Amino acid sequence: MIFNNNKIAKGAEAIIFSGKYLDYSIIIKHRLPKKYRIPEIDNIIRMQRLRAEARITAFAWKIGGQVPTIFALDPFKNLLIMEKIDGKLLFKSLSFEDQTLKQNLFYKTGNQIGLLHQNEIIHGDLTVFNVIITPSEKTFIIDFGLAQISNEVEKKAEDLLTFRNTLKAISKDYKKLFQSFRKGYLDIYREGKNALEHMKKIESRARYIAREERYE
Ligand SMILES: Nc1ncnc2c1ncn2[C@@H]1O[C@H](COP(=O)(O)OP(=O)(O)OP(=O)(O)O)[C@@H](O)[C@H]1O
Ligand SMILES: [Mg+2]
Repeated sequence: MIFNNNKIAKGAEAIIFSGKYLDYSIIIKHRLPKKYRIPEIDNIIRMQRLRAEARITAFAWKIGGQVPTIFALDPFKNLLIMEKIDGKLLFKSLSFEDQTLKQNLFYKTGNQIGLLHQNEIIHGDLTVFNVIITPSEKTFIIDFGLAQISNEVEKKAEDLLTFRNTLKAISKDYKKLFQSFRKGYLDIYREGKNALEHMKKIESRARYIAREERYE
């Protein structure tokens, strides 16, 4: 393995380095300790995220999802080694001029999430920062550290709400784009309509709680 010590990103949680393994371009994801956490607890949390990410990314790969191939992990050094997906974040597409292309990318992202939900994979941090668009316009889903396996409609709806609300916060086109995402989601996963319906329930519950709190 050639590890060229090339830092490509520093996220909220991890540092990402790039390297080579055989003929593959790889990335090495290292979750950093959080200073504000008690070290024993921090070690457990980082280990749990590493396990969830390795296990669920590999499962998503097995069911045919577009996700990076997992090559190896080192639980002692808290490293995860996976295929590097060349491309740009879906976030970048928000400034594309080509509306049809943009909508198509959200449709394809919806397809991928539909496939994951159909197989009971909840992403847990679904945003435009965790989707990579390749030069051939495929959409890859990354960052499964908060993922879990569940068939609960509530959890699927929460994934969809996170995606829509973060999109709403950064794009004035969010309605159109979420509409394309929704279509892609349902085209793969017919029963996904239950999760889409359930979003409204969660939102009205949140509104009700907010109103109650105002009168307290
Ligand atoms: N398999 C991959 N191929 C290419 N780039 C990747 C890959 N995995 C991660 N990256 C890059 O590294 C960034 C951070 O990775 P990731 O989202 O997994 O970690 P994170 O710490 O949760 O970051 P964030 O705070 O952005 O959510 C991504 O936004 C992406 O640019
Ligand atoms: Mg991320």
